[in-house]
Amino acid sequence: MPNTDTLYSDRMLSLGLARVSEQAAIAAAKLVGAGDEKAADQAAVDAMRTQLNKLDIRGRIVIGEGERDEAPMLYIGEEVGKGTGPEVDIALDPLEGTTLCAKDMPNSLAVIAMGPKGSMLYAPDTYMEKLAIGPGYPKDVVTLDMTPAERVQALAAAKGVEPEDIMVCVLERPRHEAIIRELRETGAHIRLITDGDVAGIIHCAETEKTGIDMYMGSGGAPEGVLAAAALKCMGGQMYGQLIFRNEDERARARKTGVKDFDRIYALDDLVTDDVIFAATGVTDGSVVSGARRVDGYLETETILMRSKTGSVRRLFYRQRNQ
Ligand code: FBP
Repeated sequence: MPNTDTLYSDRMLSLGLARVSEQAAIAAAKLVGAGDEKAADQAAVDAMRTQLNKLDIRGRIVIGEGERDEAPMLYIGEEVGKGTGPEVDIALDPLEGTTLCAKDMPNSLAVIAMGPKGSMLYAPDTYMEKLAIGPGYPKDVVTLDMTPAERVQALAAAKGVEPEDIMVCVLERPRHEAIIRELRETGAHIRLITDGDVAGIIHCAETEKTGIDMYMGSGGAPEGVLAAAALKCMGGQMYGQLIFRNEDERARARKTGVKDFDRIYALDDLVTDDVIFAATGVTDGSVVSGARRVDGYLETETILMRSKTGSVRRLFYRQRNQ
């Protein structure tokens, strides 16, 4: 007979996960617009860690705040949870979009994903070239091998629209100037975001609501795995390729077990097993509303999803504002 106490039951764990992201968002929300990225991040980290340690899991952080010598809490390899129950891997970003929170700009989130051991790529803290689209398209309709213009044309053809009707989301960075120029030449429209590519990628899965069809460009590799966990639940396609700027970054990758430095990871390589994913809004965004104070209460909205069933819940939560 299997020991049911140690079996991974995503259904049972998912509500606990929502509580973790809710508390991280509430802690960070107290510092929205305060201009202090570090303080907001620290508040979210502390709250997330406290909540995680209340869960009946034997958890290990695989995507976290950094390596052990850089991050005192929620570092990669840290063990969290009560130390009873199933063994799980955890990917988290207690405050995704620290600057968005500090400046009260949209789409800052508290994010966490959980799955069985080995379910998520142990991404090094490097950049990743990313490409994502929502559900409903033929497999590989766009790929990282295509030029940005070819991707727009292929997606427009698959959607049965003109390139002018395609909206691409891109992080506004000098390194993306060439991509942006090429995309504009096709007639496609571009939603430029200043930060927060986890939300940028999730937006592709809800095109009717967000208007975004495709995400492309480079950003953090850890954020890439978190976004892949979300898309695994919502449907869609994603590709990621690690980018190495120097030997130090290659060494970081080697430490996480990366062997093929040129590998293109598809969604199911980034997230290889069923996972649960929760994100709570810190500032308002198109995925979820931000945390807010209303008549003595703190309110949050969380999106909570399971890839096994494709279930998506939106949870409204309120607690007394102590
Ligand atoms: P932080 O939450 O760590 O501030 O990251 C925000 C972010 O915009 C991510 O969403 C994105 O992947 C990354 O930074 C992009 O990195 P860079 O700012 O170096 O271009």
